[in-house]
Amino acid sequence: MSDSDDDRDPLDHFMQGSSESIVPDQPPSVRHGDTLQFSFSGPDTTVTVNLILDASPGCGGVAWPAGEVLAQYLVKQGSISLQGKNILELGSGTGLVGLVAGMLGGNVYLTDQAPLLNIMRENVAMNKLSSRCVVTELNWGELVPADIPRPNVILVADCVYFEPAFPLLVQTLCDLVGADTEVLFCYKKRRKADKQFFALLKKKFKWTHVPDDPARATYSRDSISLLWLTKL
Ligand SMILES: C[S@@+](CC[C@H](N)C(=O)[O-])C[C@H]1O[C@@H](n2cnc3c(N)ncnc32)[C@H](O)[C@@H]1O
Repeated sequence: MSDSDDDRDPLDHFMQGSSESIVPDQPPSVRHGDTLQFSFSGPDTTVTVNLILDASPGCGGVAWPAGEVLAQYLVKQGSISLQGKNILELGSGTGLVGLVAGMLGGNVYLTDQAPLLNIMRENVAMNKLSSRCVVTELNWGELVPADIPRPNVILVADCVYFEPAFPLLVQTLCDLVGADTEVLFCYKKRRKADKQFFALLKKKFKWTHVPDDPARATYSRDSISLLWLTKL
């Protein structure tokens, strides 16, 4: 990574509306007016999610590459891995990853900041997932709302891009993660400054790449990592 990378806008994906696909087995996403359709295939099911996109509430209103990678990984693991579990997604944006987790049988809390809640609610409704997916506000660094049950699984995709939020995200992970919590953290490296996030994270967590993902060789070429976080 060159020095000039830190001068680039970390959200250039958002600015350019890139449609580049870094998920190997996924058919190309299809645009339907304001909606985008994603299909992910796994050993026991194919999951199709329709997403309303809306860039007006902020960068979370479009689909991000690490979210696609994490969604594909969940489907590849098969529905048994999430069925009946309490799942919490941080920084859900459009809700893609959480919606996929709901379609795989999880009880999902999709969370983000207030401006993103409407687009998530619309996407939950459009995918007929109201019985499995709850949308709620969760601002990193603030107290976790009491009505969110302790999650068995936490999903995080493409949430490392804004330095002032780094300690807030680490704080929220600390607040939520217990000894038995599984944390899947999918990250796209964009700038050298991202190291500061991992320097903070290292004080509270250790991590490994998920061990069983044949797609890794493909998405790592796009500087994406899918990590398993464990609290120290
Ligand atoms: C780059 S987007 C990724 C969205 C989605 N996870 C995906 O992969 O498509 C980052 C998300 O983090 C959310 N976010 C940023 N700062 C936050 C904060 N302090 N508290 C809660 N969410 C935050 C943004 O609103 C946005 O939806």
